[in-house]
Amino acid sequence: MVALARSPRKLPQSAEMSAFATDVLDGLSATPKRIPAKYFYDEAGSTLFEQITELPEYYPTRCEMQALRDHAAEIARLIPEGAALVEFGSGSNKKARIVLNAAPHLAAYVPVDISGEMLEREAAELRADYPQLKVLPVAADFCYPFDLPREATEAPVRIGFFPGSTIGNFEPHEAAAFLRNAARILGPKSILIIGADLIKDTEVLNAAYNDAAGVTAAFNLNLLTRINRELGGTFKRECFEHHAFYNRERQRIEMHLASLKRQKVKVMGETFDFRAGETIHTENSYKYSVESLRALARGVGWLPDGVWTDAAGYFSIQAFKLTDEPGQAQPAV
Ligand code: AVJ
Repeated sequence: MVALARSPRKLPQSAEMSAFATDVLDGLSATPKRIPAKYFYDEAGSTLFEQITELPEYYPTRCEMQALRDHAAEIARLIPEGAALVEFGSGSNKKARIVLNAAPHLAAYVPVDISGEMLEREAAELRADYPQLKVLPVAADFCYPFDLPREATEAPVRIGFFPGSTIGNFEPHEAAAFLRNAARILGPKSILIIGADLIKDTEVLNAAYNDAAGVTAAFNLNLLTRINRELGGTFKRECFEHHAFYNRERQRIEMHLASLKRQKVKVMGETFDFRAGETIHTENSYKYSVESLRALARGVGWLPDGVWTDAAGYFSIQAFKLTDEPGQAQPAV
């Protein structure tokens, strides 16, 4: 009885759940407190993010879609006959469809996503819409090495596709590690097409993460609701506030949840103290210039192979090709 009372930590139900538990407990124990941005996307978080993409202030999705549509034919020209398109973090496939439409000579499409449920739903729709295409979903966390399906490894070449400025969520050294991992997964002669948000006017950036309707605030605060539900947390949403600002020196938007008062919160039986004004750092969204992303990519063996933007020049689609020399693909970073 006494022993039970001393171990209040429940066992998480799945591997995904236990990673969440570990990351939240570790992150709340750290100074400053932090939680990885990938945990925003539960059912409610994904719906809120969809709403963000339609906000007047949130330009990235609209600008990226415009850049992809306007330059789809040129992008498709990079893709050899019979290639396999591998999308990292496929989500809704909206952007991949632009590429698939422009490159009907693609033999296979491999959406890679952490959410297996979403993957199967979307794969079924794609198979109906593109009967010629092999749709081969892979449920994996693309931050770690994973295997491609055999039909994709047997294609003459693989085209990596990483839209949505998701690369901006990585620290620069993690982005370099991702690019190295992508090179290893995609293999010789591969091409990588990345959507990256560009450095721009601070006011435009700040507005995009502080929308008047408060959807971004709700998206940020939903993380607390998720912790309460999945990890037995006791967060009171009304005791925290959304903070987002552009950190010009580090070329990134930072999102935080700021404690409105001194308070204690429990998660999985562990107690965490908050000072008034103390924050949980919930997201970085790095902004790149064409040159800064090229420099990062070049360092791990990817050479620039084209760049396209929307009309305003807010968002970039950048293509890279793998250098042939195997030595250059894996330098230490
Ligand atoms: C999905 C990472 C590209 O950084 O703009 C939107 C997430 N966070 N509003 C971004 C996000 C707040 C988004 N990315």
